[in-house]
Amino acid sequence: MIVSASILSADLCRLGEDISRVKAAGCEHLHFDVMDGVFVPNISYGIPVLESVRKNTDMFVDVHLMITEPARLIPAFAKAGADNITFHAEAASDVRAAVALVREHGKRCGIAIKPGTPVSEIKDVIPLADMVLVMTVEPGFGGQGFIYETLDKIREVRSIAEEKGLDLRIQVDGGINARTAPLVKEAGADVLVTGSYLFGAEDMKSAADALR
Ligand code: DX5
Ligand code: ZN
Repeated sequence: MIVSASILSADLCRLGEDISRVKAAGCEHLHFDVMDGVFVPNISYGIPVLESVRKNTDMFVDVHLMITEPARLIPAFAKAGADNITFHAEAASDVRAAVALVREHGKRCGIAIKPGTPVSEIKDVIPLADMVLVMTVEPGFGGQGFIYETLDKIREVRSIAEEKGLDLRIQVDGGINARTAPLVKEAGADVLVTGSYLFGAEDMKSAADALR
């Protein structure tokens, strides 16, 4: 089980310190949410911030692009220091080409789907990816409640991976805490993104351990 800390819930004026806390808490990945105000109704941060993060940490940086036509900016995010780039299937006019672009830059690749998007829409491209991100809230904001209907989608992706013998990570993002973690784990998820739960905890290490 990998815990990926979403810095959307960090104190952005103390980002460096918060990244050090996340690392000391034993989180394996840093989750970097990019929102463009078009694909999702919010704007977060982008390439210059990622460059600074890259200079200040050796943690694995997991970039979650919530932007329209991600292929436009995949090269820039790759150069800015992403280790993994996940983009939304709903946002890409050519999912295969976007995956190929991530690969050309030597990065791991994830394909994300929103809660309302059926797994059948990405079934054919799952074998191309290293990871599928099943959103467990509507993308755009931290601190929302977990959508329980997404559990069946996690199971569906897991069964496709088993059926096809894929070495696939399944990531969940949104509303993950000590109560929902066992449910997503049982359904087949192995990368848990956590924002408000982790940063809201008094003891970050115990909170991260509790997810596992
Ligand atoms: C939401 C983002 C998430 C967000 C999760 O669109 O993709 O990564 O930070 O926040 P929590 O863990 O608070 O639901
Ligand atoms: Zn995210």
